[in-house]
Amino acid sequence: MEAQQMRETYINFFKERGHAQISSAPLIPENDPTVLFTTAGMHPLVPYLLGEKHPAGKRLTDFQKCVRTGDIDEVGDASHLTFFEMLGNWSLGDYFKKESIAWSYELLTDVLGIKREQLAVTVFAGDADAPRDDETADLWRSHGMTDDQIFFYGKADNWWGPAGQTGPCGPDTEIFFDDGRPKCGPNCGPSCHCGKYTEIWNNVFMQYFKDADGKFTPLKQMNVDTGMGLERILRVLNHVETVYDTPLFTGIIAKVEEITGKKYGSDEETTRAFRIVADHLRAATFILGDGVVPAKIGQGYILRRLIRRASRYLSKLGMDDVCMRQVAEVVVEQYSKAYPELERNKDFIYTNITGEEEKFHKTLVKGLRRFNEMIAEAGDAETLPGDMVFRLYDTFGFPVELTQELAAEQGKKVDLQDFQDRFKAHQENSRMGADQQFKGGLADHAVETTKLHTATHLLNAALRKIVSPDIQQKGSNITAERLRFDFNLDRKCTPEELKAVEQYVNDAIKAAIPVVCEEMPIEKARERGAIGVFGDKYGEMVKVYTIGDVSCEICGGPHVSNTSELQGFKIKKEESSAAGIRRIKAVVGKFD
Ligand code: ALA
Repeated sequence: MEAQQMRETYINFFKERGHAQISSAPLIPENDPTVLFTTAGMHPLVPYLLGEKHPAGKRLTDFQKCVRTGDIDEVGDASHLTFFEMLGNWSLGDYFKKESIAWSYELLTDVLGIKREQLAVTVFAGDADAPRDDETADLWRSHGMTDDQIFFYGKADNWWGPAGQTGPCGPDTEIFFDDGRPKCGPNCGPSCHCGKYTEIWNNVFMQYFKDADGKFTPLKQMNVDTGMGLERILRVLNHVETVYDTPLFTGIIAKVEEITGKKYGSDEETTRAFRIVADHLRAATFILGDGVVPAKIGQGYILRRLIRRASRYLSKLGMDDVCMRQVAEVVVEQYSKAYPELERNKDFIYTNITGEEEKFHKTLVKGLRRFNEMIAEAGDAETLPGDMVFRLYDTFGFPVELTQELAAEQGKKVDLQDFQDRFKAHQENSRMGADQQFKGGLADHAVETTKLHTATHLLNAALRKIVSPDIQQKGSNITAERLRFDFNLDRKCTPEELKAVEQYVNDAIKAAIPVVCEEMPIEKARERGAIGVFGDKYGEMVKVYTIGDVSCEICGGPHVSNTSELQGFKIKKEESSAAGIRRIKAVVGKFD
């Protein structure tokens, strides 16, 4: 089965059962600075799972692009991916376990043709926070599932969420495809990694809220949140060994074969390199498609790692020329029907992927020079010290295997243990940084970030008015301290322009203009002349924020109710962010 056919089959099945289709949200969570990427279909729906009314109703369905970076270094084996798509359906305080299980069973067996004997399910075994879910097990039995197909597990396996540190969560029932091979041992079951079982769908009965103290309290409403991995279901339906053998990767892998002249599957090392290149460049194309540029921190850093790792593996496949754009073109072409933002933003994608690739190629040359100096410094010593190896890694982005290979050519080894110790210490530092970013999230700084959201709209309007009407938002990032706004312009802003922009925003703040939010169909928003980043990602009904005659923008919010709340606005920095993209950092508050 082809990907688009699977997306449509899923969506239509749930539409026929009263669900409204909503669009895939961007990969960058819009109102959640606590995580880097959207990791599940439910992530953009958190406010609605907590009780806010969704404009499209109580039954929703979509396919959502997701990025999970926890396993980035595992990519290359048969199953790990950084980018994937999740098909999902939701009940926001509407139907619950009975319908959810009945529909999942019907779709898998009647529609997709999987036999009942090929399924296995897991059910929550119960603990101090929530009882054993016998109701779910009985529902599975009512569809003919036998006790040897039903497995009870604890929280580690059968509880989902919250997506961040706090939020909605609950016991789940996971549905697995059993490929029919004998069990690998007496304890073999869906949680075993022998390959017999593949998880294809997860139905979460989201009825608890986990707070910052780790306490679980019942939610106002009982929700259902489900997620089916598109890559995995295609693997099962197409009877192929790995996700890389599904139609989602055929074109991408063929292009990498064409570029490198190597054959996918010819040996283990080549296969691994192909998978890394294919996964990483697919993910990078999508991340760029949402306006992120390669950078030292945050989403931009993940993007940079993906592109550099892909570059290194292209090089292993014998390709040292700039070529990534060709792969990105295949991704854009293949996915634009489902994700039109890729087509809309393709120039941005191509410019930035090539820019980063060229930059790394230059680093590679400098890094090699530094490596040769290090060899000279090491003199007769047989082993290169860990700090040297780590410096090559940290400053020039040299993977340790590259340094090892290069050292071996000089008859030397590297002090791997010392390198690994330094690497671990470095990782722990970054993790601490990430945790801090987490703790300082939206909840603590809601007031400041809300002001900065509104300031971003005013800044966008001012730039379009004063600098160029063609300016569009190309990225935005808000912390409690400052806003960051990326936009297209192929030159530096003049100091006079920046002054005028600042003045324009301050005038709007002084004028104490009300910020009005209205929900309306996207077509009506367009008629109104509302601007919005990356088109129709918001679904049928959208929120439009109007600030007098200064700004009219489609946005998920949140915003202040009057511009006077911002008090004042100051541009701190204007700089280049990427080719053709400028970046402004600005703050709000009282400045005199
Ligand atoms: N949110 C659930 C998951 O990601 C469906 O598995």
